[in-house]
Parts: sequence; structure tokens; C-alpha cells
Amino acid sequence: MSHQECINCHAKYEIDEIVYFCEKCGDILEIKLDLTNVAETIKNSEWKKTPLSVWRYRNFMPIHEATKLVTLNEGGTGLHRSDRLAAELGLTNLWVKNEGENPTGSFKDRGMTVGVTKAVELGARHVICASTGNTSASLAAYAARAGIKCTVLIPSGKIAYGKLSQAMIHGAKVLQVRGNFDEALEFVLKLAEKHKSIYLLNSINPFRIEGQKSLGYEVCEQLNYEAPDRLIVPVGNAGNISAIWKGFSEFYKLGLIKNLPNMTGIQASGSAPIAQAIKGHKDKIVPVAKPETVATAIRIGAPVSWKKAINAIRESHGTAETVTDEEILDAQKMLARIEGIFVEPASASSIAGLKKLVRNGIINKDERVVCVTTGHGLKDPDTAISLSEKPVEVDAEMSAIENALGLETPLATAYARWK
Ligand code: F0G
Repeated sequence: MSHQECINCHAKYEIDEIVYFCEKCGDILEIKLDLTNVAETIKNSEWKKTPLSVWRYRNFMPIHEATKLVTLNEGGTGLHRSDRLAAELGLTNLWVKNEGENPTGSFKDRGMTVGVTKAVELGARHVICASTGNTSASLAAYAARAGIKCTVLIPSGKIAYGKLSQAMIHGAKVLQVRGNFDEALEFVLKLAEKHKSIYLLNSINPFRIEGQKSLGYEVCEQLNYEAPDRLIVPVGNAGNISAIWKGFSEFYKLGLIKNLPNMTGIQASGSAPIAQAIKGHKDKIVPVAKPETVATAIRIGAPVSWKKAINAIRESHGTAETVTDEEILDAQKMLARIEGIFVEPASASSIAGLKKLVRNGIINKDERVVCVTTGHGLKDPDTAISLSEKPVEVDAEMSAIENALGLETPLATAYARWK
């Protein structure tokens, strides 16, 4: 039987119990799938004939068979071979897994389709999260789809406009907390503890992680049942890197792949407690009290899943790196201009990290590397506009337009010849 289990003391909880932290030691939980049962079920299932998507893996998800899914067609995002970017960085095998192609424009939809389906299965009528933006946008959409109430707490003034507009249009109750994400998360944890009718959907909820692990499965399938040598992903609250590693590990244990990637987490240098712990060979993080970065999505000082992330990086013989805001913005522009892929700043940190790790000789040129870009560039139009050349305003006249483009008008050319 699949169950929930504490990552520290391994205390077990039933799959349908609403519990966010271990009642014995206070640590976070994970879902332990009954893999023998999954192996049996998939043997007789047609899963490989269904389209690439989160629910292609329904047999790998801890959702009861009869449950109606809350879905907007998430997952199945492109794995784009990026030869021009690879050449620019001195690599030979590079892919970008672009999660901006999800329904609300970020990887959070993978977790929310499973998390909100579970919420409905458990009879919840009100869901809540704290967010730097994307989680709130996604939860608001899936709650609307399910017809249940949604509340989101966001750090006041520190979320990108695209994300705020999403949470608002989907009808969520939006509370702008005068504080940072870590403080907002403390409040929602306390609220969910105090008011049992509110179901918490931050990534400490292990059902979110179950959805997000599908990214790992998909990458293997898109590479013809092989894992890459390395997977690079931006890290904030640290749920996603843990989830993707769980996906790879389960595919490996089920015998669907024969190799595992080095998991590589990238943080913004102003909010990098996990990267600092990995670099310093520490077993614990030192939270950053006042995290700062232009990549507001990962402006997080006390990541709740830090222990899972450190385990994923160490178990997979991976690494972690920090990147400056300047490196992030350069990478965002480079990806948009060289490969045509427009991502938000936090997402570009995986590309910035790749560039730094190649430069430092940590990644060698023949490695098969997958960089995950986590959210769409339209989430944060202000940053994109501030990075780019301003549009040129012209009169509504052909000559003015030709002039602005540096094109010679035929008349001017004829006159020049005649002279
Ligand atoms: N990239 C983007 C675009 C994100 O929105 C986030 C997290 C991350 C990377 C980091 O993922 O937290 O699983 O390590 N955003 C959360 C939010 C915190 O509230 O939207 P993580």
C-alpha cells in the first residue's frame, strides 16, 4: 500500500490522512508509492499510448481510481534541443525543458492538478497557499476549475504583474502581506493548522510533489528512455528539485531507465541557503533573513524542503551554484535571442548556472545536459521591457519607416545617382 512517510524518522501516515508535518518529529513528509503494485499495473496498462502529460502517469499517482481529475492538460512540455545555445557555451548536447508551456505558464500546474484533485478527493472546499507568484496563479486556476474557494498570501510589492493578474482574474482572495515569502508561508502553515477546513497546497504538501515528479518521467521518455547526464533547475522553496529527483528515481527503480542524472540546483546569490550549504559541505542550511534578487520567484530565504533538496543533490552526485542578478538577466536575454525561448528571470537562472559551471570546468563539453526553464517570460513583462532596446517611434509615413530601418528609398537612390 502507498502511504505518507516522514523523511526523518520514517513514521508512516495513511494516504488519505490530512497531515503536513510528522507528528513525532516535526519534519516534512513524502509519498512512498507501492512500486511493486505500480509495476504490476503498468504491465497491463496502455499508458504508453496516451499523450505525454501528467495524467499519462495516472498509475504512478496516489489518487483513487474513481476520482474525477481536476485538469487543464498540464505537462507534455517541449524538450527543445538547443544547438545554437550549446555552441555559444561550448557544449555539444543541450536541451531546454520549457515549463512555461504549461496551462498557467509554469511547472506549478503539474503539482496543482494532482494537489487540487487530492483536495477534492478529501472533500476540501477551501484551499490556500503562500507564494512568490506562480503557485498562487496556478492554485487560483485549478481551484476555479474545481469550483472551490481559494486564498493566496503573497509578499506585498514583490511579485511580477503577470502572476498577480492571474490570481486576481481567477477569483482568488489575494492577501498582500507586508513581509517576505518566508513570513507569508509561516502564516499559512499556522492557518491550516488552526482551521482544519482549509487545505494547504504549498509544496510541503507531498501530493504537489507527486505531480511535479512527472517532469523527470517526461524527460526520460523524450530522450528515448534515458536520463540525461545532468539536469539543472532553479531552486527556491526546493520542492521542484526534490520532485524531479523522485521522478527519476522511481523510473530507475521500475527498470524504465538504466542511468540517473546529476541533479544541479541553481539559486540567486542573494537568496542561496541551499547552494551555500552544498558548497560548504554542511548538513544544514543557514536561512537568509532578508533574501533579495531580481528573480522574485526564487526570493526565498528559508526553503521548506531544503533537506529533500540536499538529499537529492548528494544522492545524485550533483552540485549547486549561485548566480548574480546580472548573470540571470544576461541569460534571460541570451535564451530569448539565441533559441527563441522567452522565460522569466528565475527560470533563466538555470541557464546562467549552466554557463558558470561550464566556465568553471564543472560541466564538461560532452555531457548530455537538460536545463529546466520553470516559468514563461510573460509572467514578468516589466523586467523584459527594462532589459530590451526601446521601440523607435516614427511618423505614419513610408519614408520615416524606411529611414528608421536604414533603408534607402528608391527616390533618394535615383537622386544620388543623377547627382
Ligand atoms: N522557478 C519559478 C518560475 C518559480 O516560480 C519557482 C518557485 C521556482 C523556480 C523554484 O521552485 O520553490 O520548487 O524550488 N515559486 C514558488 C511560488 C515558490 O510561490 O510560485 P521551488
